[in-house]
Formats: sequence, structure tokens, C-alpha cells
Amino acid sequence: MSMRCISKMNPKRIRGRVVLVRVDLNIEEGGEKNAYRIQAILPTILHLLRHKGKVVLLSHRGRPKSLTGIRNKELGIRNKKLSLRPFAGILSKKLGKQVSFVSHFNFEKIETQIESSRPGSVFLLENLRFLPGEEKDDSALGMRLAALGDVFVNDAFAVSHRANASVHAIIKYIPSYAGLLLEKEVQNLDRVAKNYTHPFAIIFGGAKISDKMAVIQHFRNKADYFLIGGGPANTFFAAQGLPIGDSLVDVKSIAFAKRYLKSRKIILPVDAERQDRKILDVGPKTVGQFGAIIKNSKTIIWNGPMGFFEMKGFEKGTRSVWKAVLRNKKATVVAGGGELLISFAKLVPSEYKRVVAGTKKNTNSNLFLSTGGGAMLEYLSGKKLPGIEVLRR
Ligand code: 3PG
Repeated sequence: MSMRCISKMNPKRIRGRVVLVRVDLNIEEGGEKNAYRIQAILPTILHLLRHKGKVVLLSHRGRPKSLTGIRNKELGIRNKKLSLRPFAGILSKKLGKQVSFVSHFNFEKIETQIESSRPGSVFLLENLRFLPGEEKDDSALGMRLAALGDVFVNDAFAVSHRANASVHAIIKYIPSYAGLLLEKEVQNLDRVAKNYTHPFAIIFGGAKISDKMAVIQHFRNKADYFLIGGGPANTFFAAQGLPIGDSLVDVKSIAFAKRYLKSRKIILPVDAERQDRKILDVGPKTVGQFGAIIKNSKTIIWNGPMGFFEMKGFEKGTRSVWKAVLRNKKATVVAGGGELLISFAKLVPSEYKRVVAGTKKNTNSNLFLSTGGGAMLEYLSGKKLPGIEVLRR
């Protein structure tokens, strides 16, 4: 079932209208300026501005509920580090126009401010998770947000697996559409998940493990290889009874890993780089083995770096896999997850810039970068994402 998309909406319906755009600015402190998640939302915002809409950006950042902060009816739960304020300046520069940051949740005031603004204005509201109703998918909050605009656009694939008020409840109260990014995410993920060609390789690394096990389960009869590095590899080693010292492992997933140990599709590292009793990267033989499979693959899905690339000396595995993936121009590739995209920008910067420039110009590349982490894995494991289902016709 297809989604209602702004790409198919008559642009005349945007002129002078207030368009609420849910984006995902869940970007860690320090990584704000060059985050791919920001680049990826620009096409939708620019499209709406070109057609003279007023754009109101909605997002969350982090998980403030688990933090203590100031509680205030109008301000919500505050934590300065999780404020969206820094993004107003960054987006202003990228869009070449002022983005007004709204630091309070006095909805009447916000409404007046938007009403008195000119077509083509852009607003960014404060972190919606400062409000208790956001993560509870509160209908009253959904209705309150919807009342600020005429049209709602979900361009936040990365949070579409969460039934949050600004992703899910809001849709009951306002005509809603998928943005250009969300539409592309779904198209590209469907391409690899449903219309794949063989050989089909899935590469997993990173820290989070259990979500990846669900994807292995889903693709067990479809994919040809699962190339496993990072935390997932340690979990398989633990399932084999190998000593992994203090390495990152998901104890809850060991039983699952045991069931797959005999599968010839599961390709585990044959060597590793270690420090202080911890496995921190895959070794050179593994890189060679993974590289040979990647070279011949026609479909590739990749989520999670091979090692602790942030630390000097443990980036080689991830860099080599990036290079192997980038060399294979015949394969359809989807790579995603926050950490993996950071590793791309850090370890192969020239190629990263080329791919990002292509995204901006909308030119086709065989590599699609997904902004989703957990959302990408949930979508790939066949789950229905609440933020997407509500946009289906
Ligand atoms: C993400 O970064 O994966 C999304 O923004 C969702 O964040 P969450 O896991 O805190 O809901």
C-alpha cells in the first residue's frame, strides 16, 4: 500500500499554508554541524519554501524523561544539552534564511507568532520530548500540535517506529503526508528488502545487538551471507563458548545466536584487534574475507561499524569495509544507523561528500544512506512502523 506523499501533492495547496514538518534532529552534542540527518531533511524544507509555505519544524532530541530537569507547565522538562536551539542557527545557514527558534510551549503564543509571519518563514519548536505527552502518544498533545498548522508532513523516518504524539497521534487531526526523505527511505528499503538480487549480503556491527538478530531471523532464507562484526560478533563468539574477555556482548541474544551457529550463511571474524581484554575491531584476514563477499554481491544492507572506529588504531576494519562497499558500483546498497554514517564521514570523507552532494542534487547513486537506526532495523525485520502505517492509503 502506498503512502500519501507531498511529492504527489498539488504545490498550489502549499502556498500560504502552515506546514508542520516532523524531522529527526536526534543528533548528539558535538555532531550537530555535519550531521547527515540535517542534510537529508533539506530537500523537503526547500520544496515547501519554494512553494511559499510556512514551515514549522518539530523534533525530539535524546530521552529527557530519564533525566532530571526543571519541570514547568509552559517549559516542560528541561535539559539544556537536549535543547534543539543549536539547530536553528545551523539550519538558517544551510537554508540561507532565518529559522526562528521557539523555546516555550505556550501554544497560543506560538499560533500568533506563526499567523503574523510571512509565507516562506521557518520556525523550529523546542524538543517535544520535554513535554510528557510526546512519548505517550497523547491525543491532546497531537491535537494541540495539529492546531498549529494546515498540513502535516512526516519526514522523520528515523523516529517512525515510535508511536509518539508528533509522529502518530497528530495524524488524526490534520491532513498528513510523507516528506521527500521518508518517501525515499521507504522506496530504498523496499528495494533491498523485497526486490533484492543475489548474491545478497547483510553486514552487521555496532553496539546494539538484539534488533539485528530480528533482521537475521527475517532474512534467514532470503540473504546469502551475514557478515558479522562489532558487538553482534562477540555475541556469536560467546555462543560458541569462546573467551571474549570484557568485550561488548548482549547476554540476552546468546541463545538466539546459538541457533544460528551451524548456518553457513553466518560469516564471523577469523581475527580481531584487542586492547585491555576487549575486542575492538575485526582483523586483516577478516577484512579480506568480508571484502571478497562484498565484491561479488548484488544487494548489500549494512548497519553498524565493524569496531570501535572512534579510537585510533581500531578504525581499519570499518574503513576497509566502507572501501569495499564503495568499490562495488553494481550492487544496490543501503547503509544506515547513526554511528555508521559518522564513521563514513570520518573514515572516507571524500566519498562521503560525494554521496551527500548527490543526495542534495537528487542524483542517483547505487548507495543509499538511511537516516534510521532502530527504525531501519525494525522496518527491515518486517515490522509495521506506526508513523508510516498511518500515512498509507
Ligand atoms: C533514533 O535516533 O534512532 C531516533 O531518533 C529514535 O530515538 P529513540 O530511540 O530515543 O526513540
